[in-house]
Amino acid sequence: MDQQSLLEQALKSVANAIFITDGLPRSTMTPEDPNITPWDIHEEDFPLEGSSSEKLSFLLRYAILAPSTHNTQPWKFAAGSETVDILIDRTRWLKVADADQRELHVSVGCALENLLIAAEHFGYRCLAAYFPDAEKAALAARVTFLPDGHPSAFRSSRLFRAITLRHTNRNVYLPHPISFAALRQLQMCCVEEDVQLHLSDDANIKQEVNSLVVRSDTVQFADPAWREELAHWLGEGGFGTPRFMAKIAQ
Ligand SMILES: Cc1cc2nc3c(=O)[nH]c(=O)nc-3n(C[C@H](O)[C@H](O)[C@H](O)COP(=O)(O)O)c2cc1C
Repeated sequence: MDQQSLLEQALKSVANAIFITDGLPRSTMTPEDPNITPWDIHEEDFPLEGSSSEKLSFLLRYAILAPSTHNTQPWKFAAGSETVDILIDRTRWLKVADADQRELHVSVGCALENLLIAAEHFGYRCLAAYFPDAEKAALAARVTFLPDGHPSAFRSSRLFRAITLRHTNRNVYLPHPISFAALRQLQMCCVEEDVQLHLSDDANIKQEVNSLVVRSDTVQFADPAWREELAHWLGEGGFGTPRFMAKIAQ
């Protein structure tokens, strides 16, 4: 099957997904519904006088704004008075596209990072234990919150403000290279030992990466199960931006 036919098939699946989305009973939603305006969080609403678990629950509003693969948001939380358990919701695992669960774990890690940034902003010191209970496969991390913290060198208050502004940008690339200053700033973000950023403007490397991306796209689009999974998540609102949807539909 040639690439054109594969894309046509993918388009049909995507069109079905769009139809399902359009069939939602939107009239039942109100602008205040936290499911549609989750970004509308006000720092001053932090329940200073509330119970500890109310305070921790407020932090979760920042955690859920994290990016996730296909926008699956594969996380659940259990907030206690001093701890939050972050659980992996495997009903939202991309079994085809992410068979080894790598992106599943990265996504849950993004929610954890948002939670830690928000917690430090509101004055907590956080102790994160990864996979604290071998018996519980869903339990990714347990964070203990201590009320004597301050923003760490890794998580500045600028990052906190970025949580509600951040979104994936699928617009066309700018017609000029990224400035040296911006690249330097990116490089300076890598302050933890196990994080590395490799930048390259070598034409051969870019060409090689480009061919790998085209090859991998072709392999993925050739798999009906992969297309079906993608269509399902598009129908759930994954990849939300209309421009990206239009691009896929092309
Ligand atoms: C592990 C991971 C992998 C992702 N892979 C892709 C990708 O291959 N292509 C893409 O356009 N977006 C990718 N994204 C971005 C998600 O689609 C995006 O985070 C999600 O749709 C939510 O939108 P938002 O980032 O604007 O909140 C990825 C995100 C994560 C966390």
